Amino acid sequence: MSTLFKRTHMCGTLNIDNVGQEVVLNGWVAKRRNLGGLIFVDLRDKTGIVQVTFDDKIPQELFDRADSLRSEYVVGVKGKVCERSAKNANIATGEIEVFATDLVIYSEADTPPIYIKDDDNVDDNLRLKYRYLDLRKNKMQRNLTFRHQVTKLARDYFDSCGFTEVETPMLIKSTPEGARDYIVPSRVYPGSFYALPQSPQLFKQLLMVGGTDRYMQIVKCFRDEDLRADRQPEFTQIDLEMSFVDMDDVIEIQEGFLKKIFSELMGVEIKTPLPRITWEEAMERYGSDKPDTRFGFELKKLNDRVAGCDFKVFTDALAAGGDVRGICIDGGSEAFSRKDIDKLTEAAKAYGAKGLVWIRAAEGEYNSSVNKFFSQEQLGEIAAVFDAKPGDLILICSDKPKVVFDTLGFLRREIARRMGLLDDKQYNLLWVVDFPMFEEDDETGALKAMHHPFTCPKLDQVHLLDTAPADVKANAYDIVLNGVELGGGSIRIHDKDLQAKMFEVLGLTKEECEEKFGFLIEAFKYGAPPHGGLAYGLDRLVMLLLGEQSIREVIAFPKNQNAQCLVSEAPAPVDKAQLEELGISVE
Ligand code: AMO
Repeated sequence: MSTLFKRTHMCGTLNIDNVGQEVVLNGWVAKRRNLGGLIFVDLRDKTGIVQVTFDDKIPQELFDRADSLRSEYVVGVKGKVCERSAKNANIATGEIEVFATDLVIYSEADTPPIYIKDDDNVDDNLRLKYRYLDLRKNKMQRNLTFRHQVTKLARDYFDSCGFTEVETPMLIKSTPEGARDYIVPSRVYPGSFYALPQSPQLFKQLLMVGGTDRYMQIVKCFRDEDLRADRQPEFTQIDLEMSFVDMDDVIEIQEGFLKKIFSELMGVEIKTPLPRITWEEAMERYGSDKPDTRFGFELKKLNDRVAGCDFKVFTDALAAGGDVRGICIDGGSEAFSRKDIDKLTEAAKAYGAKGLVWIRAAEGEYNSSVNKFFSQEQLGEIAAVFDAKPGDLILICSDKPKVVFDTLGFLRREIARRMGLLDDKQYNLLWVVDFPMFEEDDETGALKAMHHPFTCPKLDQVHLLDTAPADVKANAYDIVLNGVELGGGSIRIHDKDLQAKMFEVLGLTKEECEEKFGFLIEAFKYGAPPHGGLAYGLDRLVMLLLGEQSIREVIAFPKNQNAQCLVSEAPAPVDKAQLEELGISVE
């Protein structure tokens, strides 16, 4: 073991003001070049890189030690800061260098399997396997530091608003957030299982019953669902709940938080109150309940225009209760070739679309994939719905409303991306409100809660719960940033009779309710305050603020696409003895 050179400065912080100072640095060798009588070492720590120079004025033994350095050796250096004759404007410390007077090698290093540089194009799985090397990259350290600043600001802001951070249990009974649970077997009760929380939903409501008044927690949540760029099996929420509030109160507090985040961490002033859009309007205009409003291409309904036309695909869809809708891409005719449209159609199939109809507007005429079925005049009428100009491209989808919305919602975003219209320096925040209380389960067709079963319906619509539950809107709200759902919440039911009614509409028997949420129902018997809250996806928030494309870039040790931790190689089999102790046998 080598002795420690006690650090006086961080590498990336040295500048022209330090010239003449004796400094002690610790870090990793990013690069070593031997130019005969001179050895240059780029020394890296989390703050950046500084050039350390070993010249022929130092003892030969020290020069030889410097010559033995290889990439990623961990070293301590003593030396003097000098102004560089050849300055390097590309790095923050480029005006100076450190002339070394001593060097200690703490650890040698094998050749790293990945390059430690930000723009390294290495395979993601290799990056994740060697995450500790990946984390040495400047960008990754910057991302972790930024994430820390967001969580610190969240804690400070909510503290200043009277919130108390309270931890809730990780080994719980399953909560109804809609995803599959991760379950943990109990040794003491063979055959019984804990679930890892999908969110602290029920516990934060119990905290309100417990008089906590305003709760917050930066908390891990676990959901066994298909992974995407903005989804991980374990992720972090900034979770909040407040007593004696209505939706406007919750939103006001959140807007204060978002304003502060943007102002202090991004130098961006956002205007509040933020826009609010109803769920229905979001679907009608953007085909999505998390609309990206940085660009147009809004959906238009064509049902009336195409009713009774000769094209059976449209008329059949209408007859089956479906819709015909489309979007118009300004200048899309030139931007998208026939082949491009074929590719988009192929991609749209993932959303259930069976095909797309296109119309190209040209000077004085229309060309389309349905020329056979529509006269120029009819195509002109459709184009008029979009105010289409020569050079525009109209894409139309007909199917069940959900398929049409999902398909066109996807196409809007995808086309905007391909046309380079997504400015990641523009931050369009908005609230989506008035969600439907219920939606149909894709598989069973039964009603299920769109948010969760504790969400309070609009009180003036409670009478519809028996007669027209599908029309009932919820006191639920989502905060959306540039087409990503950052967070969501609701005002909760605090009345046990209304809660019982809700369970009844959801088709839950008394026994099922008792088994699933008996403890909440029981708690509500003893005085529940009106309450509501919200949870942000912290990973998503940080991802968007940093302009990253995946939440993996803002999580130190994320799972890969197959939900594996490649560093520790989880999931992994366990010892037979462990299984026996749990009374579990594996096929
Ligand atoms: P919800 O299920 O909408 O609400 O989750 C809140 C926010 O958490 C983030 N999120 C995720 N982030 C990464 N990976 C995932 N798998 C993932 N799933 C969700 C999203 C989402 O908006 N208990 C309620 C909140 C409430 O009603 O107060 C809840 O969890 O950004």
